[in-house]
Amino acid sequence: PKTFRILVLPGDHVGPEIMAEALKVLDVVEQTRPDIRFERDTDLVGGCSIDKHGTPVTDAVVEKAVSSDAVLFGSIGGPEWAGADPTPESGLLKLRHRLNAFANLRPCEILVPSLVGASPIRPELVAGTKFIVVRENCGGAYFGEKKEQKDEASDLWVYSRHEVERLAKVSAAVARILHAGIPGNEEKPAKPVVWSADKANVLASGRLWRRATRDIFEREIRDVELKHQLADSMAMLMVRNPRQFNHSAIHTDNTFGDILSDISGGITGTLGVLPSASLAGVPGEGPCKGIYEPVHGSAPDISGKGLVNPVAQILSVAMMLRYSFLLEKEATAIEQAVVKVLDSKDNGGLEIRTGDLGGRARCSEVGDAVCDVLKGLLAN
Ligand code: NAD
Ligand code: IPM
Ligand code: MN
Repeated sequence: PKTFRILVLPGDHVGPEIMAEALKVLDVVEQTRPDIRFERDTDLVGGCSIDKHGTPVTDAVVEKAVSSDAVLFGSIGGPEWAGADPTPESGLLKLRHRLNAFANLRPCEILVPSLVGASPIRPELVAGTKFIVVRENCGGAYFGEKKEQKDEASDLWVYSRHEVERLAKVSAAVARILHAGIPGNEEKPAKPVVWSADKANVLASGRLWRRATRDIFEREIRDVELKHQLADSMAMLMVRNPRQFNHSAIHTDNTFGDILSDISGGITGTLGVLPSASLAGVPGEGPCKGIYEPVHGSAPDISGKGLVNPVAQILSVAMMLRYSFLLEKEATAIEQAVVKVLDSKDNGGLEIRTGDLGGRARCSEVGDAVCDVLKGLLAN
């Protein structure tokens, strides 16, 4: 069989809980495809790696990540490592950088109509929201030179034209895919749309961002409409009228992308349904390596109780199948299974949701239900 090599890094707190469900889903896919194999190697990252090895990610784990086809990542960090140097979080940053996973796709979608109830935004405003934040993942303030003294600290926020341009190509590709997927009953804009969010009014790196983005769109990306928005007002618009960004890609820097993608969690009402893919290439241009992880963190406040929503991790598996393995049919089936489990109308009156979505199901019940529905979908 064709073998895909996956490095599995569950991490800390809820990480192992949600990873267990994601791996069940991967098992179901494997069972329906005798021609493929998912070879998995599981290791430590984050706080648990600090405890065992004194470092959030060992060189051996980094090398395994580099030599695997994809990394499935849970979540890291927690109060017990407050003040650790290096931090658990730096392990994740090192992996992103080492794998050159420069394009972080973070979809925001109200998955089923009845989930509008979980959103704090009025139903008529939030229903049908669907866009993707494309976050620059290997530069900006996260990776510039740092100086840290007791009473003064700084982070250098640098971008090169090259970094902005390569992300712009991804943002355009994502916008094209979203545009092509607009359902027939919805109005389709003439061109795919990219919204670029920056602080060109204040930051020199923001002005470079805007110039470099504008230049490459004028030179090479003529089929996609480009709009510029200041990142602060972007945050406001996303909350006030999220559907205004429907079927578009939000092209933005590392720090702004981190914040705007958590605003996505405010739109859905929970981070528990938001997956992400950090890619080392352009979607649609062949398989690329990637790190697949939820947008959310290790949720220490609810860990160890079976309360966490595994949907973000399960949808991250779907993204892995789509972008790293080109298994589009299986990726779509996982997404459909999640939708059916979350929406009673689709699932014979059964609605299986964790507490963050107003339900009472346990993490493992959601995972099991997704697996059951998925088996049926993949059998046909
Ligand atoms: P968080 O995302 O872990 O949690 C924020 C809130 O959302 C909490 O109330 C949590 O219970 C809830 N929540 C998050 N995911 C959920 C899920 N799947 N189901 C139900 N509820 C969910 O953010 P935080 O509390 O600010 O950070 C905790 C730790 O996680 C920190 O150490 C932070 O650095 C780390 N972190 C790690 C990652 C990652 O590993 N990729 C991402 C973000 C934050
Ligand atoms: C995320 C997280 C990470 C980030 C942390 C844990 C390094 O918040 O993936 O959104 O800031 O990128
Ligand atoms: Mn974040």
